[in-house]
Amino acid sequence: MGRTNEPPRLPGGGFAAWSRDRLALARRGADECGDVWQLEPGVCVAATAGPCEAVLHRAQDFPKAPSPLFPPLNRSSGAPTPEERVHAHAARMRGLRPQAVAARTGEIASGTARFADQWPTGQDVEILPPVRHTLADIGVRYLFSEDAPALLPFAAQLFLAREVLVRPSRWVWPRWIPTPARRFRTRQQTAFVDALRPVVRRRRASGRLGEDVLGQMLRPSSRYGLLAEEAVLDTLPGITVATFETPSRAAGWILLHLATYPEAASRVAAEAALLPADPAATTSAHLDALRYTQALVREVLRLYPPSWLLTRSAPRRTQLADYTIDAGSTVLVCPYTAHRDAREHREPDRFRPERWLDDPESPERPGVFLSFGSGPHGCEGAALAMAMLTLLTAQTARSYQLSEPPGPEPGYRVTTLEGLATTGLRLRATARG
Ligand code: HEM
Repeated sequence: MGRTNEPPRLPGGGFAAWSRDRLALARRGADECGDVWQLEPGVCVAATAGPCEAVLHRAQDFPKAPSPLFPPLNRSSGAPTPEERVHAHAARMRGLRPQAVAARTGEIASGTARFADQWPTGQDVEILPPVRHTLADIGVRYLFSEDAPALLPFAAQLFLAREVLVRPSRWVWPRWIPTPARRFRTRQQTAFVDALRPVVRRRRASGRLGEDVLGQMLRPSSRYGLLAEEAVLDTLPGITVATFETPSRAAGWILLHLATYPEAASRVAAEAALLPADPAATTSAHLDALRYTQALVREVLRLYPPSWLLTRSAPRRTQLADYTIDAGSTVLVCPYTAHRDAREHREPDRFRPERWLDDPESPERPGVFLSFGSGPHGCEGAALAMAMLTLLTAQTARSYQLSEPPGPEPGYRVTTLEGLATTGLRLRATARG
């Protein structure tokens, strides 16, 4: 093997500095080392648009590990094959593509309106739990329609299992050790699948497959025929939690921005005044007309991407930008620093939703907007997430002015371990006059 050109190491970097302040170290790495840098030997960070896009698109060189959160359950019938998982993905995507989401705008708007209507005014409220509850209700309904109410309590338990699993611990246990958190996860996953199985069987037996995402997964395809029952069941716990977990984190940042930028909030409220009084009558044309609100949502996601660090590996030695990445390395893709690169975004740290209106094509340019990832593992739910967040933002701003609790301390903590979040966020709503 010839000489290698390793990515630069950040002086004073390393895991200890990383665990003290991940965002600050990521910023320093990008500023001082550039496109690609090394956090520790064998752990590289892709920090700017080009290398981030390259890693996410070169899935052969930089594969993504299968979801460690909800691995296939052990059963005598065996786990779905990789091919079946690909087919399950294609079937889900029929129900999640932008046209499918557009057709269900009224339903989504009714869900987000319930959140806005129920916000207790005149007091500081810890807002992420009710946001999560609302988005879970919308997300689970989007997947399972009239079967959602029976599945929602199981979805809430899956979320809890995820929280317990990702809680920081002093030890990293090998994957095969059944820690209490993993046993809890398996119990909740089994309970969810057991609740879903009769739904799948009933729909198949009656021939009424449904127009929702589950219905799409139950329809035979000309390419692969009918999906096996286990392939349907095994891929749904992860996506069920995904419908509300990351969107709730995003909503926390958005509501905080409505509180800290009242002029932007007023502009959203003015736009939202054009929404129909009956939320069920909201159509995709109404949603498309919320241009400033969508730009605001996108701008918050640019500055605070809830999934701010994506993990890949490099099983073989390969090149990235001008550097050699050793076999066995972990590669971290960092949308957070890519989004704060002045070469891609003028005044990158400034909150300026108008930037997306000035240049509406820009999110499509490689590396410019990575909050939903990119390439073969890009977010399946981006259209649904944008619809939920835009409507939640518009309806909330139409009804209320938000503010942070008075006092020198912020009403939240920025946490970075499993995504970028406003943990404990407290806000106050006052009816908009
Ligand atoms: C603001 C909300 C959301 C954000 C910021 C977000 C972000 C992301 C990102 C960055 C990825 C790529 C991960 C990677 O490359 O490793 C991803 C993947 C994924 N997202 Fe989302 N997401 C959101 C909402 C949703 C929703 C509503 C759903 C469900 C319908 C969803 C389902 C998924 C799934 C299933 C994947 C995995 C795709 C794969 O690995 O092939 N997400 N998401």
